[in-house]
Amino acid sequence: MTVNVVLGISGGIAAYKAPDLVRRLRERGADVQIVMTASAEEFVTSTALQAVSGRPIRSNLWDKEAEAAMSHIELARWADVVLIAPSTAEVMARIVSGGAPDLLTTICLATEAPIALAPAMNHVMWSNPATQANRQVLEERGIHILGPGIGSQACGETGSGRMLEPDVIAAQVVALIGGKGEGLLQGRKVVVTAGPTREAIDPVRYITNRSSGKMGYAMASAASTQGAEVTLVSGPVNLPEPPGVTVVQVESAEDMYTATHDAIGDTDIFIAAAAVADYRPAAVVQQKIKKNDEAMRLELVRCPDILASVAALDAAPFTVGFAAETENVTDYARGKLAKKKLDLIVANRVGRDCGFDRDDNAATVLWNNGEKQFPTASKTELAHDLLELIAEHFYAMRGSETQPKLTVISSND
Ligand SMILES: Cc1cc2nc3c(=O)[nH]c(=O)nc-3n(C[C@H](O)[C@H](O)[C@H](O)COP(=O)(O)O)c2cc1C
Repeated sequence: MTVNVVLGISGGIAAYKAPDLVRRLRERGADVQIVMTASAEEFVTSTALQAVSGRPIRSNLWDKEAEAAMSHIELARWADVVLIAPSTAEVMARIVSGGAPDLLTTICLATEAPIALAPAMNHVMWSNPATQANRQVLEERGIHILGPGIGSQACGETGSGRMLEPDVIAAQVVALIGGKGEGLLQGRKVVVTAGPTREAIDPVRYITNRSSGKMGYAMASAASTQGAEVTLVSGPVNLPEPPGVTVVQVESAEDMYTATHDAIGDTDIFIAAAAVADYRPAAVVQQKIKKNDEAMRLELVRCPDILASVAALDAAPFTVGFAAETENVTDYARGKLAKKKLDLIVANRVGRDCGFDRDDNAATVLWNNGEKQFPTASKTELAHDLLELIAEHFYAMRGSETQPKLTVISSND
């Protein structure tokens, strides 16, 4: 049995990507029923969409013939997932209001299937407080918001609001409905570390860093999307747990070391995206330190090197490190690759305006005799692309094992 996707297309420029999205979903085994808004028809023709989806397009709630064939309620029941891509700001607002003035929003009200929206709009529209409030309400109601991505926009400006690329949306929808057919990492075990660590000074103070955990969480999500069984060892962050991923919450570098080694077992791939403290206070003061002296000294000692310790295991997994540097990024990263005997290292520049605590990132991936540049993209898209490269190198190292091609939605029975 295939998976039924109701694909809602609303009236944004990114609707021109809809035929590609339909193709990507169908490649993964989905049966796609398109429902267009009236505005969407200004951007993409129903003729093209009918040709790629292989099904008549639905757009009008009052189409007697189509309603007789499959009513809006039957469509809502037929869907295993309702995906709206692109989703306009207007469609988000209509869903939030609970109105049902058209076929697409009526289906959204009438369905019990998961709903996912891939917003696409000008970056000012996306950051508008009204749109952000709508996003928050939708998320609180359990509606999945995919992206948006970051980059150049149809309006000629750059920012957050670009629709995610069709292959990324298709892969995320597969993950959402639990389809784990033949992803690139199907059946593989992956451990990811993410976020900062906190090294206690006294009961109320600690040393930490600016890492938000976004990159590590995106890597864990991408690995899960590709069929892997993922354990995410996370420092303290303010992010929702990625669906389908086992999350182990830790605080200090010492805790992260223990949790990582507990999880590693027969792991195939280890991705160390956490920004682990290099040093911690030599002793934790038991009571809050009082402000008595003019100056004070804090003695620091080295924290355990989690990445090097995993890479040095007898049966080490394929090990991927991250190098966040403020200068000489690739030189330092190449040094770390060799010194810690890593298989791959993802190098990126960090500072106040890049890297940490942002939704986008650029990276250079280095290995023994090569490297590849990844231009600035949303962390979701970057993680997806990095995962493909990691899988390619992982299978090349394993030699005899063949690399699966695609994430395919699994059968329901
Ligand atoms: C040329 C053009 C491009 C547009 N692009 C977008 C867009 O990318 N995202 C968006 O939210 N609205 C966009 N709009 C505005 C929507 O089309 C408008 O809000 C419309 O009412 C949406 O209807 P729908 O949500 O029912 O499809 C655009 C409008 C025009 C005229």
